[in-house]
Amino acid sequence: MTTAVVEGLGTALPARRVTNDDLARVLDTSDEWIRTRTGIVARRMVDEGTVTGDLAVEAGERALKSAGGGGADAVVIATTTPDQLLPNTAAGVADRLGLGHVAALDLNTACAGFPYGLATGAGLLAIGAASRVLVIGAETLTRFLDPADRSTAVLFGDGAGAFVLGRGEADAPGALGPFELGSDGSASEILTLTAGGSRRPPHSTDLTDDEKYLKMDGREVYRHAVRRMAESLTPLAERAGMTVGDFDAVYAHQANSRIIEAVADRLELPRERCPVTIGEHANTSTASIPLALASAPPNPGDRVALVAFGGGLAWGSALVRWPDLEPG
Ligand code: UT7
Repeated sequence: MTTAVVEGLGTALPARRVTNDDLARVLDTSDEWIRTRTGIVARRMVDEGTVTGDLAVEAGERALKSAGGGGADAVVIATTTPDQLLPNTAAGVADRLGLGHVAALDLNTACAGFPYGLATGAGLLAIGAASRVLVIGAETLTRFLDPADRSTAVLFGDGAGAFVLGRGEADAPGALGPFELGSDGSASEILTLTAGGSRRPPHSTDLTDDEKYLKMDGREVYRHAVRRMAESLTPLAERAGMTVGDFDAVYAHQANSRIIEAVADRLELPRERCPVTIGEHANTSTASIPLALASAPPNPGDRVALVAFGGGLAWGSALVRWPDLEPG
């Protein structure tokens, strides 16, 4: 039986590094508050003119190189911050990567995008619509933050990360799956970015700051994030015929070091099995899991659970038998 297999990993970060102290010069905040409440030390930010697609192209190129070269016949981009509403970001990225007229789609499940993107990529492979898929998580969330709102401005950073998925045997290095995905639209109001959609089209002349910028009820999001990520991993383990304790590592979406520690504690997993890499990247939404994997790679052969939670609400997890690869 064949399955989706991870063949390559690539990442991209903007050059500009902004520290907590840099933010404390313009906002009523402090390095101490940000570090102790979130684990964040610094973040990378795009300059005006750099778009999500630019970071996606760079991460995609590196992932293909990490996979030993060659192309892909499908591109899935998980992003909350597309280059524009129309056209999608993926078609332009596929074109710039020289992949030809391949399948190309964006998907938005906010910070849960990477597991959803992997599931979509694995699905394209399973139905024979593609033989090699580039799954990219890419974001420029700092372009959508209210610079005067300290409750969000300190939390996010920009970046991208990508996997190349091919097909292989179910027990091959890199074998991907099972998956667990979920949503809860009834609590969607706790994390929003309203302007620009059909509810509040871009030409609206009376947009409020609450609509123009990302808005978050941090405490509620925190609560749901811990619960949903922890709860996603139990059925994931069951589908794999394992228990959560059998995971060699859990790479969780990097939104807050305390959230990751709380997930580990709730599952009674040693904290060192749940790497925290948020320090230098802050919350990069769909890019955070591949960035974490590249910053602190698992050991080849490890059974690694990837788990994420975000606005929507949406959550998801995926299991991967970590392959012996060099991240690009
Ligand atoms: O990717 C998925 C989406 N994002 C997340 O998962 C983030 C989830 N939420 C969180 O990580 C945390 O809730 C935050 C980091 C956003 C906030 O941490 P907290 O420990 O929940 O703080 P809080 O919201 O309860 O605020 C505590 C205090 C408040 O002051 P008072 O009311 O106690 O006087 C805030 O006004 O901290 C204040 N505060 C700040 N102080 C300094 C909020 N933001 C800041 C700031 N600097 N940047």
